[in-house]
Amino acid sequence: MEEEPRQPLSRLVLCRGIHCRRRGSGRIFRQIKRQAREQAIILLTVPCFRVCGQAPVLVLYPRGEWYGRVTVQGVRELLQGGTLDRCLIYRMGNAEKKASSNPLPKTPSDLH
Ligand code: FES
Repeated sequence: MEEEPRQPLSRLVLCRGIHCRRRGSGRIFRQIKRQAREQAIILLTVPCFRVCGQAPVLVLYPRGEWYGRVTVQGVRELLQGGTLDRCLIYRMGNAEKKASSNPLPKTPSDLH
């Protein structure tokens, strides 16, 4: 079965909570800021996604994909057209159905 092309990214939401900061979200923030500006991607931050065990956490829109334990290198690759699939923790909406072979939690709160 052929995979659908991925939607281009328009917004990235990065957690800047204490657990994510301890695990490098500051470096990830600076990396995204540098690369996102060139690609017209909006970078937003939140105080905590409440999935701190997955820190650092990044959510991609419009794909509705949540990623945990992301790294500077992973984000760099993502913004160069790569994927962060190894860090996927949750997929919202229609995309969730397509991930049926991957046992994902129903909501982020299931990750606690
Ligand atoms: S501190 Fe980042 S998810 Fe809670």
